[in-house]
Amino acid sequence: MIELNGVSTRYGSVPMLRDVSLRVGAGELVCLLGPNGAGKTTLFKTVAGLIRPTAGAVQIMDAAPNLRTERIARLGVGFVPENRRLFAGLTVAQNLRLGYEAVCGSGSGFAGGLQEIGRLFPRVQERLDQVAGTLSGGEQAMVALARALIGRPKLLIMDEPSLGLAPKLISEYFRIVKRLHADGATVLLIEQNAEMALRIAQRGYVLSRGAVVAADAAAALRQSSVVRHLYFS
Ligand SMILES: Nc1ncnc2c1ncn2[C@@H]1O[C@H](COP(=O)(O)OP(=O)(O)OP(=O)(O)O)[C@@H](O)[C@H]1O
Ligand SMILES: [Mg+2]
Repeated sequence: MIELNGVSTRYGSVPMLRDVSLRVGAGELVCLLGPNGAGKTTLFKTVAGLIRPTAGAVQIMDAAPNLRTERIARLGVGFVPENRRLFAGLTVAQNLRLGYEAVCGSGSGFAGGLQEIGRLFPRVQERLDQVAGTLSGGEQAMVALARALIGRPKLLIMDEPSLGLAPKLISEYFRIVKRLHADGATVLLIEQNAEMALRIAQRGYVLSRGAVVAADAAAALRQSSVVRHLYFS
């Protein structure tokens, strides 16, 4: 569903991603780990069509490579960007409508989508008319996930969704992602929280200084000296 082949990017003259190859097959839950500054968000933006690779190709589903964001979303891709990026001045319902339209266009299924979201996130349902900027951090995290889900995406790409949440909410968040995956979604989960991510993912990649330094089954990565070195020493 996602395939990166030899992808490199630059910020001006500074190289960032270096020859990154990564694959997420249909129905997989794959995590991408890496310390601060490793290039995780750069990879997210590259997959989302916000940064164009200087070499290599990003292929999403069967579409043409290196598409722009709007086209990618319409393929059925939901994004949860770093720091949520809600429209702070809009209500929760308006944020959700933008998420719906990004995937479905101006279809008539928004009301039905809202009902589904209400079942999944009762707390979001209660706050549809509240301005998003006044929500608590945890509520914003849930709205960002709801916004990505309301168009019923086949593929979900998330950049550190658990960051800043209390431990109890982190567990809740990971439980929801696991359930979405069990219900058939394909997920690329970008995380610094290696322990939690490797508990729900099947496979993982580790990024360090813009390059993939490990790629393996989640169970193997849990034991890996590369992961231990990057995170725990
Ligand atoms: N627009 C930009 N212009 C120049 N350098 C940038 C730009 N965006 C990111 N960088 C640099 O690229 C490197 C990778 O940044 P990136 O945001 O991809 O890291 P990350 O792995 O997501 O880190 P974190 O875990 O802190 O979110 C960093 O050194 C960062 O300073
Ligand atoms: Mg980041």
